[in-house]
Amino acid sequence: MKVRSLLVLGAQYGDEGKGKIVDLLVERAQVGTVVRFNGGANAGHTIVLEDGRFALHQVPSGILHPQVLNLIGAGVALDPIRLVDEIGELRRRGVDCQNLRISDRAHLVMPWHRVLDGHLGARLGTTSRGIGPCYEDRAARVGLRVGDLVDSRGRVDLEHFAERVREVGAWKNRLLTRVHGLDPLDLDQIVSECTEAAGTFAGQVADLCGVLEERAASGHPVLYEGAQGALLDVDWGTYPYVTSSSCSLGGCAVGLGMDPAPDLRLGVVKAYSTRVGEGPFPGELGDGARVRQHGALPPGTPLPQPDPALRQAALAGDEEAMGRWLRLAGAEFGTTTGRPRRTGWLDLVALRHALRISGLNALAITKLDVLDGIPTLRIVVGYEIRGRQTTSMPSRVRDLAEARPLYEELPGWSCLGAATCFEELPSQAQAYVRRLAELSGVPVRVLSIGSRRSQSLFLPEQD
Ligand code: IMP
Repeated sequence: MKVRSLLVLGAQYGDEGKGKIVDLLVERAQVGTVVRFNGGANAGHTIVLEDGRFALHQVPSGILHPQVLNLIGAGVALDPIRLVDEIGELRRRGVDCQNLRISDRAHLVMPWHRVLDGHLGARLGTTSRGIGPCYEDRAARVGLRVGDLVDSRGRVDLEHFAERVREVGAWKNRLLTRVHGLDPLDLDQIVSECTEAAGTFAGQVADLCGVLEERAASGHPVLYEGAQGALLDVDWGTYPYVTSSSCSLGGCAVGLGMDPAPDLRLGVVKAYSTRVGEGPFPGELGDGARVRQHGALPPGTPLPQPDPALRQAALAGDEEAMGRWLRLAGAEFGTTTGRPRRTGWLDLVALRHALRISGLNALAITKLDVLDGIPTLRIVVGYEIRGRQTTSMPSRVRDLAEARPLYEELPGWSCLGAATCFEELPSQAQAYVRRLAELSGVPVRVLSIGSRRSQSLFLPEQD
């Protein structure tokens, strides 16, 4: 794979399996640098190795490759406390994180952001990681940045940071107590917790503009790793049921401070759809409200497994059972929150929208194996909204909520098995993939047929 730079974006509602694809491409394209440019600890990028599973949140997905420099760009909403937890967990597992750098311009997720998100975010079903309130403060020009915590020589700047926390925190405490009736936060404790956390990564904070320029000139490709997905983009997603950052090509330029000019712009798409939290979801299988009421799985709980009775009900045409089947067979529980994900058929209207807003020129399809054993597969190819058919993504969320999906049906397959190339897949699976490429208008370059690195197929470049 010969590329100068690559962009990897979610082309649905997040959780497409971007972590695995980034990790694979790092090796395949001999990537020298991986950069995260948006989102923060709301993301959950999973990489499964032979000896275990890594769930990354703020740290870029190239971290397991010691020769790759991993950058957290200025567009990321960085939670210093959670970052230190994440680095600590990686170190415990033998990943030293010396190959990590953090932009001094990234905004800090502060405790008041998390409290406000927890208090107000339920309406949208947010992850409660403080992301929305942090980006709000960025736009309102009252945010604190990594450069307020760590000075330009890579040293924790207690005096400056304490001053900024007192200034902004006093006002935030008035907001918490007087407007929301919540308890005030202890600002001294915030200063001590954040400065202690910063001690772990201060030496890795830098102005990344220069670093990126050098890396881009180094001859090894740079990979830009998007978080969340196109349908959660603050401008182009299903607003207001979106996250607060740009999850598209535009967000990449803004979050880095350079022209990313990626020659490979890869959209990662699951072979079916999932969505977490509130918001319209054409093609959804079953009752989303019921799924949303289910609590999050406590950390460490074994994932529930599908049973034969559920399978039988799903195959007999019970849509809710099919939705549950996909959730259990696909282990569709949030990497970050443990929340059960809503499930549905693949939506080509939404996918084409995702491709258009970021000019994506290739696809990686993940979790194709989860569709094993379903005799008839459906793809959403259009919407009918109050009697009118359309293949465009409506801007009004109300229209989308009323959209009746128009389906195309394709025959399924019984089992993908251990295919080592595209041609070894069952003919129906090949036809499914070809049809997706045809309907979306871009070639499929990567197929993931299981969670491990080895369960991946690269398709030859097509003209
Ligand atoms: P926030 O990003 O925490 O503000 O949440 C806003 C919406 O985006 C909610 O519906 C979340 O469930 C969703 N969301 C945020 N990050 C992710 C992600 O990484 N994967 C899937 N959904 C996400």
